[in-house]
Amino acid sequence: ASQPSTAFRVTPSSSPRTAQQREAILAAPGFGNHFTDHMVAIEYDKEQGWHGAEVRPYGPLQLDPAAAVLHYGQEIFEGIKAYRHADGSIWTFRPEANGKRLQRSANRLAMPELPVELFVESLRQLVAVDHEWVSGVGENSLYFRPFMIANEAFLGVRAAQKAAYYVIASPAGPYFAKGVAPVSIWLSTDYARAAKGGTGAAKCGGNYAASLLPQQKAYAQGCSQVLFLDPVEGKYIEELGGMNVFLVYKNGTIVTPALSGSILEGITRESILQLARDRGLKVEERKISIDEWKQGVTSGEISEVFACGTAAVITPIGELKGEGFSVGDLNAPAGEVTMSLRKELTDIQYGRLPDRHNWLVKL
Ligand code: PLP
Ligand code: COI
Repeated sequence: ASQPSTAFRVTPSSSPRTAQQREAILAAPGFGNHFTDHMVAIEYDKEQGWHGAEVRPYGPLQLDPAAAVLHYGQEIFEGIKAYRHADGSIWTFRPEANGKRLQRSANRLAMPELPVELFVESLRQLVAVDHEWVSGVGENSLYFRPFMIANEAFLGVRAAQKAAYYVIASPAGPYFAKGVAPVSIWLSTDYARAAKGGTGAAKCGGNYAASLLPQQKAYAQGCSQVLFLDPVEGKYIEELGGMNVFLVYKNGTIVTPALSGSILEGITRESILQLARDRGLKVEERKISIDEWKQGVTSGEISEVFACGTAAVITPIGELKGEGFSVGDLNAPAGEVTMSLRKELTDIQYGRLPDRHNWLVKL
């Protein structure tokens, strides 16, 4: 029943944007503001497994008001980009890793697992019709947002037996309005994004819902992201609302919080660990207390801090603020290690450096 059907029915949009409209969007896309002309949809039910795969015009979904996603939050998603190389070809980065993470998220949210090949094929099918939306401008890209919802109409609280998977795509420039400039981070001590035994390691909508109030507070303090601490002791750093974090020590050691069960296993994080190891740098995945960060930055032992993720790529963190304190300097230039790792990663993604780990997949 769960044999993947890779025969996608394609219904082209009858009113795609004109080349001129598209070019205007691609010239200054921002992040998450615009969507391409098409989307992917695949249905799931217990009897048929995954079926009815299609590419269709981008547009609203029809949902039964009793659909489980609307009541009990059974929703998971991914974030992955397509990059245009100088020769015009279009590539994506480690899609099997995102496909597997979507399966782990599905598992945690008691949703059906989408076969990894079908995940990769869904990106390929969307790019086949919307390839003109993959920008060739600077370091812009096409950001895919694959997501899955439980759409069984039933109000009893149990895992839904029906689901749907979609992929939409959005032309993307830098995630932060100021581009690659250092950002300021707000330490949340009132709120956690995840709990011990909770869904922190899954990429589910609920985690982001929990991060929005602290995120609002961060904005009010002039900060662009929230740093969350571990939910048990409130002492160790975990991650930002939508990014992992790294500290760079003066002696060259690169440190990131160990996967704790409540942190999202970032694919950018893992790639950076690999690139750092390849350079012969010492890398550590371990518990890092918030005091270690504060004291290290103040004493100069920690020379750089950065955030990373598909949307953020690698973004320098200039300053950490919280109730009654601030460390770092937002106006200091971005760190050298941060910027050279960023350059190496994007050079691989955009085909300017050899892909020695076979991370790129042609779409
Ligand atoms: N942590 C959170 C909470 C995220 O939302 C993201 C973004 O996807 C990441 C980390 C980074 O993950 P990745 O590098 O796979 O994009
Ligand atoms: C991503 O980087 O793909 C995310 O989902 C994070 C979010 C800040 C857009």
